[in-house]
Amino acid sequence: MLDPADWNDFRAECHRVVDSLVDYLKTVSDRPTWQPVPQEVKDALREALPIDGMPLSNVYDRFSKLILPYPTGNISPRFFGWVHGSGTPAGALADFLASTMNSNVGGRDHGAVYVERQVIAWFCDLFGFGEAASGILLSGTSLANLVAILVARSSQLGHDVRARGLDQRTQPLVGYASAATHSCVRKAFEMAGLGSDALRVLPIDASHGIDLKLLEAAIANDRAQGNVPFIVVGNAGTVDVGAFDPLEDLAAIARKNELWFHVDGAFGAMTILSERLRHFVHGIERADSIAFDFHKWLHVPYDAACVLVRDGAMHRRTFASEGPYITRMQRGLAAGEPWFADYGPDLSRSFRALKIWFTLKHFGARRLAAAIERNCEQAQLLAKLIEASPDFELAAPVGLNIVCFRYRGAPDAQDAANDAIAIEVQLSGRAVISATTVDGRRALRACFTNQRTTDKDVRELFDAVTDAARH
Ligand SMILES: Cc1ncc(COP(=O)(O)O)c(C=O)c1O
Repeated sequence: MLDPADWNDFRAECHRVVDSLVDYLKTVSDRPTWQPVPQEVKDALREALPIDGMPLSNVYDRFSKLILPYPTGNISPRFFGWVHGSGTPAGALADFLASTMNSNVGGRDHGAVYVERQVIAWFCDLFGFGEAASGILLSGTSLANLVAILVARSSQLGHDVRARGLDQRTQPLVGYASAATHSCVRKAFEMAGLGSDALRVLPIDASHGIDLKLLEAAIANDRAQGNVPFIVVGNAGTVDVGAFDPLEDLAAIARKNELWFHVDGAFGAMTILSERLRHFVHGIERADSIAFDFHKWLHVPYDAACVLVRDGAMHRRTFASEGPYITRMQRGLAAGEPWFADYGPDLSRSFRALKIWFTLKHFGARRLAAAIERNCEQAQLLAKLIEASPDFELAAPVGLNIVCFRYRGAPDAQDAANDAIAIEVQLSGRAVISATTVDGRRALRACFTNQRTTDKDVRELFDAVTDAARH
């Protein structure tokens, strides 16, 4: 057996670990945002398979020395690099509780299933999805987008596409999304067997939203060529600049053309929680499916995402499967329909819902919304500092929580200069910022999805990029 020989020793060890981790969290602001993993640490992590184990305290000591000091950095208040959530101590605790219960939430009749159903019901209500809607928690919006695209595919071709498979020569399905759409949508088209060429990538307008006229023209053109338009993907918060497609208009175009309307709201969908920001997602309630993350702007520890589908029956028909080993019973543990395994690719599933439930129960939607609003104000603060700076200029309008800006150096050297500044700032440990391409040119990018960031941290970021630029 693998349980502790002495539970009191284990208890003492747990207390030691909890004490040191609480200190670690409390002092996160005092450490570098990120630091590279030294070669000797990389070497120390490469070792032969342990045949004989060692005491837990020794393993923890190694973790503290070799692993804990080298995180991505996203729990730091000065992490602005990518759209990463910062987590919360309460969420970490919930993760520990979920691992202790170690429930398998593929299905059956036990507490975790009811918690996940409740989390999904809260978000179905928020997004105005009706009684017939369904949802499932998944690892990330990448997978949530894939699940939505598979349901849309079933809706177009009939769920027996699962048995028949795709024949692209007779069913050339095509879909539409803007050029600002996250690459995981293209990947989802590949994984769904449609091929990424079947995703028509449409230009964006000055506000970084999809060009609706070009969308309608593309649909008509595809129909004329004998292709079968089946889905349009709208963005609620684009990954590069945080822009929104006109969701209400997209819903109308989708309905007129009998297309599935899916919204990728990885982080932007969370604006639904804020009265002040909710207008951004106006029209999302008309979507056929929505994908979004809890691990980004709700600060739930990784990983936690969700897909909601308005037509729950279609969702189920896309994934339900049978086997003698998963026979449903009328009573007992194998009862409790519906099972989550019938709504996604996984049979065995972790108790992700607990950390989301804890986060919502502990902080409440109002406080979480306030953290989102604060991030948007901080993005505006950075935008003002950039606008007033002789070194930088904004590369895109700042609508929500992402600030893209460029070094004002000589145009031919700018691309390399922006990347170099991002690296320099990261290596300094003062903050983490990333670089991306906006309107065909490289730009620095600061994303605000961090509940720990203060205005002082924003100023520190600005000083760090200024110093790197002048270096
Ligand atoms: C708009 C958008 N869609 C999809 C994704 C992918 O989400 P995940 O990393 O949770 O799979 C991201 C990630 O940043 C995103 O910003």
